[in-house]
Amino acid sequence: MGGTMTALAPPPRLSSPTGGLPSAVRWAHLLMEDRLRPGDAVVDGTAGNGHDTLFLARWVGPEGRVWAFDVQEAAVRETRRRLAEQGITHAEVIHAGHEEMAAHVPAVWHGRLAGIMFNLGYLPGSDKKVTTQVQTTLRALDAALTLLAKGGLMTIAVYPGHEDGAREQAAVEAWAAGLCPRAFEVQRICPINRSASPPECWAVWKRCA
Ligand SMILES: C[S@@+](CC[C@H](N)C(=O)[O-])C[C@H]1O[C@@H](n2cnc3c(N)ncnc32)[C@H](O)[C@@H]1O
Repeated sequence: MGGTMTALAPPPRLSSPTGGLPSAVRWAHLLMEDRLRPGDAVVDGTAGNGHDTLFLARWVGPEGRVWAFDVQEAAVRETRRRLAEQGITHAEVIHAGHEEMAAHVPAVWHGRLAGIMFNLGYLPGSDKKVTTQVQTTLRALDAALTLLAKGGLMTIAVYPGHEDGAREQAAVEAWAAGLCPRAFEVQRICPINRSASPPECWAVWKRCA
């Protein structure tokens, strides 16, 4: 009987492909999946190869809106290609830094975004020198807080395992610690028993009241 129950048990919904706990990016997706609804308007602050943009576009559906940003021409091209391949037309990929997001997201949407994702660092398989940087990241995070709706969620995947990433992690931590607890709830999710500096998922929820 025990064996039958095991065979019928559904696979764990939160696990990584190996069956382990979710990665930082997977946590970000899970948190977004929990919150986003069809028709929502969202931002992908780091389009890269377009995986997160596609994820967001699917989750908010054709009645939703997505704005994605990247400073690399190749990333913009790849993200547009990935979206076109899926016939997605409700996502706009903008060749600009995320620190400029407020200038690109129409003013009518300011304060109305349900979700904003950042997957910091460099594009895997590309020039590691083109990585997100503390100064522009902090400007983007501040802009994102303004664009976020009350009740909206921001996720930030941070990679402290490389030099720029370690600086960014420290900056994100200090920035997050300074957020008013009456206005924002902040959590950090990361492995704690690894010797190397593992990726982290930060979640910022803009309080409703
Ligand atoms: C880890 S990758 C993003 C991965 C991506 N979300 C995906 O699903 O493939 C980080 C990206 O941030 C981009 N980036 C660096 N500085 C940026 C900035 N100021 N504004 C927007 N994107 C930036 C890099 O070009 C790179 O493509």
